[in-house]
Amino acid sequence: MSKKVLVATVKPFAPEAVEQIRKVLDAAGYELRLLESYSDAAELHQAVADVDALIIRSDKVTPAVLSAAGDLKIVVRAGAGYDNVNLEAATAKGIVVMNTPGQNSNAVAELAFGLMLNLARRHYTGKAGTELRGKKLGIHAYGNVGRCVATIAKGFGIICHAYDPYIDDSIMMKDGVIPVKTREDLYRICDYVSLHIPAVAETIRSIDYDLMSQMKKGAALINTARAEVIDEPSLLRIMESRSDWLYASDIAPECKDELMAKYPLRCFFTAKKMGAQTAEANINAGIAAAQQIVGFFERGDTTFQVN
Ligand code: 3PG
Repeated sequence: MSKKVLVATVKPFAPEAVEQIRKVLDAAGYELRLLESYSDAAELHQAVADVDALIIRSDKVTPAVLSAAGDLKIVVRAGAGYDNVNLEAATAKGIVVMNTPGQNSNAVAELAFGLMLNLARRHYTGKAGTELRGKKLGIHAYGNVGRCVATIAKGFGIICHAYDPYIDDSIMMKDGVIPVKTREDLYRICDYVSLHIPAVAETIRSIDYDLMSQMKKGAALINTARAEVIDEPSLLRIMESRSDWLYASDIAPECKDELMAKYPLRCFFTAKKMGAQTAEANINAGIAAAQQIVGFFERGDTTFQVN
């Protein structure tokens, strides 16, 4: 019987990406169902009730969603971070969870430079700013996004350092990136630090005052990763105590309004999380998600399973 695949996206894919997902599913004889821009979890509970597979972005897949899904066998997070999926509950129900690593990385990396330029050019106000050329950039975590950041940085003439205890130094060195042994060193050395860590137990609220205060005069922290990795009281404290310290983020903290009111020229926040919000990233991640679902049902392929 034809498989039913639900694409459930509070933040919809670009229409071209949905078209491409449809093509992959049509070719396999699968049915595409769409739930876009929903505002209530109840809509997702209803839509997921009789589908075999689910494609999501940052949409929350809670135990309640999984309980509502009677036939669900696979969830694919079209993207990198799967902190929005309750893996324990999925595993308990025998549901496979996958991500699509690398498919949206370039878009996120490009936005990191957009945020750096925004701070360096003083929010495009016309005030004299600074250049990126010759500056030191600290890449905090050298995964797919971190690597794209390093590639783009070369064009700017930026000197890249990176800290990642899970990646061999030789991989960084091959890319012309200088490996750094501790987080503290990275934060101490660099003019910009760009965060690319996932939100896991080890990293949540791990970017704290002690670490932030290591940063040199006039340094900027760029966050296109997750809001949860920042310790917000520390963020407020460093902004208060260091009038030279800058912050730009694609994921607004709870204290965004306070920061914007107090330090409008020292911080910047995108209107909504948009790092991966390009047609290209949506197409790449969407096609990969659809293909992974077909591969799973037709060939038992579990590459990229994360639970
Ligand atoms: C990811 O983890 O892939 C990025 O944070 C993008 O998330 P999004 O699909 O919600 O834009």
